[in-house]
Amino acid sequence: MSDLALKTYALSFAYDEGNELFCNVDFELHCGEIAVICGSSGCGKSTFCQCRVGIIPEIYDGYLTGKRELFGVDVATLRLPDMADRLFMVFQEPGAQLFSPTIEDELCFAPENLCWEHSLIEQKLTAALEKAGMSAFRYASPNELSGGQQQKIALACAFTVSPRLYIFDEALSQLDKEARLEMLVIIKQLAAEGNAVLMIEHSRENMHIADKIYKLEQKQLILQPKE
Ligand SMILES: Nc1ncnc2c1ncn2[C@@H]1O[C@H](COP(=O)(O)OP(=O)(O)OP(=O)(O)O)[C@@H](O)[C@H]1O
Ligand SMILES: [Mg+2]
Repeated sequence: MSDLALKTYALSFAYDEGNELFCNVDFELHCGEIAVICGSSGCGKSTFCQCRVGIIPEIYDGYLTGKRELFGVDVATLRLPDMADRLFMVFQEPGAQLFSPTIEDELCFAPENLCWEHSLIEQKLTAALEKAGMSAFRYASPNELSGGQQQKIALACAFTVSPRLYIFDEALSQLDKEARLEMLVIIKQLAAEGNAVLMIEHSRENMHIADKIYKLEQKQLILQPKE
């Protein structure tokens, strides 16, 4: 598998014809790297990530041009199930991605669909809940949880799958300071283990862990100078 986790060539996208959110964007993310994308609200950060992992135009319609590669393979040739063990995206609204009756079911959903051995699922599930500080909630319903707890479970789902590419769309936004700092350590560790991490962030307090910070503005992704 290529260690170039994500690459885009001249990527442009508009929900409405002629009204591009970004134009001709070239971007690369290597394994072992953490990149942050920031930018003003509504500038198209979430949309940019959804384009790169195939949610757009697979699920949401629009006008997409350019090329996207995931680990060296053209995303247009991949089916969503082919990507399931390579990347995990934690969405901006954690509640939107939790749909199972219990946390345990939620964490098992992807591995069971990937046909993992039961013993491996159990091992990964236990470790992921512990990492997220949510072991006590294994049999709870996602609906009973606060926004911050839902966010921890969405992160635990990512840890269970252990992909090589993690995309976190403001995935720490509802955590308290202690949990947020713990999660930043875990994210740094994921990159140190050779995984690629792409974070969309509003909070400057989370950006220091990035190797590269990009700002989406005026339809371009602009690499920011190191502070
Ligand atoms: N499925 C959709 N269909 C049509 N328009 C959409 C859709 N999703 C988002 N938009 C619009 O596209 C623009 C960019 O939205 P997006 O969510 O990508 O921005 P963002 O930078 O992630 O914003 P925020 O910082 O608030 O999360 C916004 O004007 C939004 O209303
Ligand atoms: Mg967004």
